[in-house]
Amino acid sequence: MPPSNKFFRNRDFLSAQTGKIFVEQVSAKSLAEKFGTPLYVYSESRIRANARRVKTALAKFMPHSQLYYAVKANNNLSVLAILRSENLGADAAGPFEIELARKVGFAKDKILYSGVFHSDEELKFGLKAGVAINVDSLSAATRLLQFGKPPLFSMRVNPGISGGKIKKLVFAGKDAKFGESLANAVKAFQIAKKAGVKKFGLHMMTGSCVLDENYFSSATQKLLEFAGVIRQKVGIEFEFIDLGGGLGIPYRASEKILDLEQAIKKTAEVFTEGVKKFELGNPKLMLEPGRYLVGDAGILLTRVNTIKQAAKTFVGVDAGMQTLLRPMLYDAWHEILVDGKLEKKNPQTVSVVGPICENTDQLARDRLLPKIAEKDLLILLDAGAYGFGMASNYNTRARPAEILVNGKNAEIIREREGSAEIIGKQKIPTRLK
Ligand SMILES: Cc1ncc(COP(=O)(O)O)c(C=O)c1O
Repeated sequence: MPPSNKFFRNRDFLSAQTGKIFVEQVSAKSLAEKFGTPLYVYSESRIRANARRVKTALAKFMPHSQLYYAVKANNNLSVLAILRSENLGADAAGPFEIELARKVGFAKDKILYSGVFHSDEELKFGLKAGVAINVDSLSAATRLLQFGKPPLFSMRVNPGISGGKIKKLVFAGKDAKFGESLANAVKAFQIAKKAGVKKFGLHMMTGSCVLDENYFSSATQKLLEFAGVIRQKVGIEFEFIDLGGGLGIPYRASEKILDLEQAIKKTAEVFTEGVKKFELGNPKLMLEPGRYLVGDAGILLTRVNTIKQAAKTFVGVDAGMQTLLRPMLYDAWHEILVDGKLEKKNPQTVSVVGPICENTDQLARDRLLPKIAEKDLLILLDAGAYGFGMASNYNTRARPAEILVNGKNAEIIREREGSAEIIGKQKIPTRLK
């Protein structure tokens, strides 16, 4: 296994041989040469290990639970198929995510449709699909129940508490557009009960990339207080109480690794006590992580094309904000390795920039890296979540290919885009021809 762990920490699907990086048993170099760059590469074993780690901790501390996967983190069908085969459910943010989940065989009763600011059409789609629906406003609840009765009605509340490492990632509290107030949630559940709904869920999603083990239990405490009030005022019991996602991964080498067992143990204790205290019956504890399951299982390969000496040293690569938006969207950090140059010999402070005509198109600013030359292959770590999903065609660029590695095998699981996707969908009115 890896002769050098210091670059990879717990990412045991990565290893180095004489400085050359391997994903499972396939070299990054061979992947880049065969499939081109920029290229997203995912490790099947790591996705499975991540899912099993969460399942094991839940089985140990809270067997009455269910684990769902937030499809928005990475919607590749093969990734979904892996997680379906691990017996997870799917948390879908919109109609196409429901379609994707159905396509790889998620049963209807293992899909939670959890969008925000639903349109009427989206609500009708959810009803027709026959999946459990989690609304995030009294408005959506009222409209949904006019259109029909879902097999399970759930509501996302804003418990006023928020956490996580990334400043611009805000999901709850006063500034958040997500979730409902307790008073409006009570009204929504009353309407649903009156409409004849028999099964209920309660949901929150308050923070992302949380590395503090204590956070989840504090948020859970708040949610259970809400559940207690709803239970009392509306007289319903919940099938599940969904704590959302938010389990964090350490993007920076200096960050701690989340002690998952500890986080789940504490949360399970608070959950069990709260269920008893607020007489909530026997709800399942539900989690729907995205990042934790796929984030560190993916890397982005990108090739250096230009070194420019200006006021700073700019390293120009073929990936940019059209490939990986996170650094530009919320100053997110991705560790960067240079294939064949793992040790920081002759380090240099450089900015790694993409080909897009925006000065925000910088994957890393003023980063100390080994001396880089044109044609070097760079590897951005932890690109498995919110990577491809946020990719775009900006500056009329093709979105990259995605590869799944399983041992010695590397298979293409999404083709690189070409003119069919970029030009083929456009139409010119005859008068302009
Ligand atoms: C409703 C919902 N559930 C789950 C998640 C997954 O969050 P994370 O990737 O932080 O686990 C998100 C992320 O935005 C979300 O909006």
